[in-house]
Amino acid sequence: MPMWQRKEIQKMLRCGIDEIFKAGAAIKAGRLVAFPTETVYGLGADAFNPSAVAAIYAAKGRPGDNPLILHIADPSDFYRLAASPPAYTTKLIEQFWPGALTLVVRKQPQLPPWVGGHPLGQTETIGIRIPANQVARDIIHASGCVVAAPSANTAGRPSPTTAQHVQDDFQSLDIMVIDGGAVNLGIESTVLDATGEIPVILRPGQITVAMVEAATGMRLSAVSQPAGEKPRSPGMKYRHYAPKAPMTILTGTDEAITNYLANKKNPHILTINNSFPQYKNKINLGNSLDEIAKNLYAALRKCDQDGAREIYAQAVPEEGLGIAIMDRMLKAAEGRIENVC
Ligand code: TXA
Ligand code: MG
Repeated sequence: MPMWQRKEIQKMLRCGIDEIFKAGAAIKAGRLVAFPTETVYGLGADAFNPSAVAAIYAAKGRPGDNPLILHIADPSDFYRLAASPPAYTTKLIEQFWPGALTLVVRKQPQLPPWVGGHPLGQTETIGIRIPANQVARDIIHASGCVVAAPSANTAGRPSPTTAQHVQDDFQSLDIMVIDGGAVNLGIESTVLDATGEIPVILRPGQITVAMVEAATGMRLSAVSQPAGEKPRSPGMKYRHYAPKAPMTILTGTDEAITNYLANKKNPHILTINNSFPQYKNKINLGNSLDEIAKNLYAALRKCDQDGAREIYAQAVPEEGLGIAIMDRMLKAAEGRIENVC
């Protein structure tokens, strides 16, 4: 490529062009590459290379029955991978891609039976998304591959929102880490089951039920996982996002929470709106839902670094992005929530 052209492309990219090409070539050669997306960092590999995909599961310690999201850079790849997707998927793609929405669809029958999951298993469906982060899309383009990428944390740890978090989790492994700075959103994509007549949200995220309803003109069921049914999204059944210390979510007035915490010894407190200035081990998550989403996982990791013994987190209002934030907080707290007012 002539020098002037390299310079032109360099100007358009956030990350060095050499790094992007190296990352793309590494994925093509079967290596693991961690890269930023707008939600969290992903641990990527060529989705059609069975040993590379097996290496993702091994590096993360991820159960083999938990499938991987396939990351693409161009909508035409969606139609190459998906078998007769329902018409509403086109509306969702037009509205939300590139972006934090993963569409779970049936696979084209000619695809290898394991693609989208562990090479020793079989999957009938695949989750697909186009990330909004330019570095992520450039790497996917440069690799020429469909890139399977779970969040780049070891299983059970909070998802990584900086390159440093990825390095902390995979210190001893030979993984290329592309540093694109802190992510924009901070929590993972909305996962939407698009295999039926009506879409079903399997994992809440920035793209909410109301946004999907407005884009499709359809009314979604209020229950994302019908009771008693086998989990449609295997990832939802595992302990997730968990800090090492036990965590409890608190709802109630500041005064009631202060009284409740009065006899706790050195608790770590995750607050919103900078409340509770009296506590030494306080981490303020932010003043808006956007800020809270961006800071949550780093705060959980900081609790681990500090050797926190007990963590208490203020609940956030369950509306809009707050639904996804509470979903992640409840997982981190293993369902513990107390109303103290
Ligand atoms: O924002 C995100 O989604 C990030 C970035 C890196 O793209 N990725 C991510 O991947 O969070 P992971 O593997 O940590 O979570 C993917 C979730 C899991 O709960 C998994 O079970 C579900 O998506 N999933 C993937 N493929 C699926 C499928 N075919 N059917 C049902 N659920 C699926
Ligand atoms: Mg994950």
